[in-house]
Amino acid sequence: SPSDPDLVERARAAKEKLGEKVFILGHHYQRDEVIQFADVTGDSFKLARDAAARPEAEYIVFCGVHFMAESADILTTGDQKVVLPDLAAGCSMADMATAEQVAECWDVLTEAGVAEQVVPVSYMNSSADIKAFTGRHGGTICTSSNAKRALEWAFEQGEKVLFLPDQHLGRNTAVRDMGMTLEDCVLYNPHKPNGGLTAQELRDAKMILWRGHCSVHGRFSVESVNDVRARIPGVNVLVHPECKHEVVAAADHVGSTEYIIKALEAAPAGSKWAIGTELNLVRRLANRFAAEDKEIVFLDKTVCFCSTMNRIDLPHLVWTLESLAEGNLVNRIEVDPETEKYAKLALERMLALP
Ligand code: 13P
Ligand code: SF4
Repeated sequence: SPSDPDLVERARAAKEKLGEKVFILGHHYQRDEVIQFADVTGDSFKLARDAAARPEAEYIVFCGVHFMAESADILTTGDQKVVLPDLAAGCSMADMATAEQVAECWDVLTEAGVAEQVVPVSYMNSSADIKAFTGRHGGTICTSSNAKRALEWAFEQGEKVLFLPDQHLGRNTAVRDMGMTLEDCVLYNPHKPNGGLTAQELRDAKMILWRGHCSVHGRFSVESVNDVRARIPGVNVLVHPECKHEVVAAADHVGSTEYIIKALEAAPAGSKWAIGTELNLVRRLANRFAAEDKEIVFLDKTVCFCSTMNRIDLPHLVWTLESLAEGNLVNRIEVDPETEKYAKLALERMLALP
């Protein structure tokens, strides 16, 4: 079983044997049994920034999902090897934009005569190919903690933004933070000819949103917000910006996983919070802050883990660390040099945002 004390001891022993050779990063959505071994935990921005923090470490074990491990490989030196403990830990949102679909979209924008005005802004939750596309076309990457600054930067470079692949983060940031209206945004559907849009609609739009979403955050509804407000008087509703626009509009606060943690740290004793994000994180926070008399509940009634984040479990971590300790490089994530060059350009634009 994953809570097997024997596995905990094996992970500890393998990590100790590897010493300075290994650096373990853990996203906030990881299981407790995994997060206890992370040297650094964070949201996707913090993990991208910190990936290069230990240049002497030969192995970076990324406890998170595939696009995060790719980004870490892009941002670290060639001698450092990034390892993902389970290669099946992908992200369904990132899979909603393929290189072929995005190239086709650019052709549609070109034919509509708007491509020169468009700056791509791609959410971190995308493949290295999409990041490279973004870099090639003068755009930047963003995460949920800097999407506003990324859009401000992009609108200094051009008149329109193509936002990939999360329609909700794109729409929420445009409307909440940039003063745009829902009518300024159009939805590009990669499964329809011309994205399901006319050339005139593309010419009129300020934000062209890719039709992607997170299936975990997509489950929160306005009904769940209303229910929790009725159940817990005075509750503060805090949600991640991957939630639908109407859910974000009904919430009191919106932010990345790191923002959510900071908000709860700063919250007064006796306050009550309903959190709309992945369940491993919400449970960990509920346990941590119970001692400070802060009541933290999950926004939805049904259980809501990110199934791919959860693929990284203690048995996979033990296998990875023991393999590395024995000199077997397993599950390496390596981006090809040509993709890396342009993806890095886009990631570095993000890291340079004010
Ligand atoms: P952040 O940790 O950046 O808020 O992102 C959430 C997420 O869905 C990562 O996949
Ligand atoms: Fe992808 Fe959503 Fe899971 Fe984040 S929570 S890794 S966006 S599927």
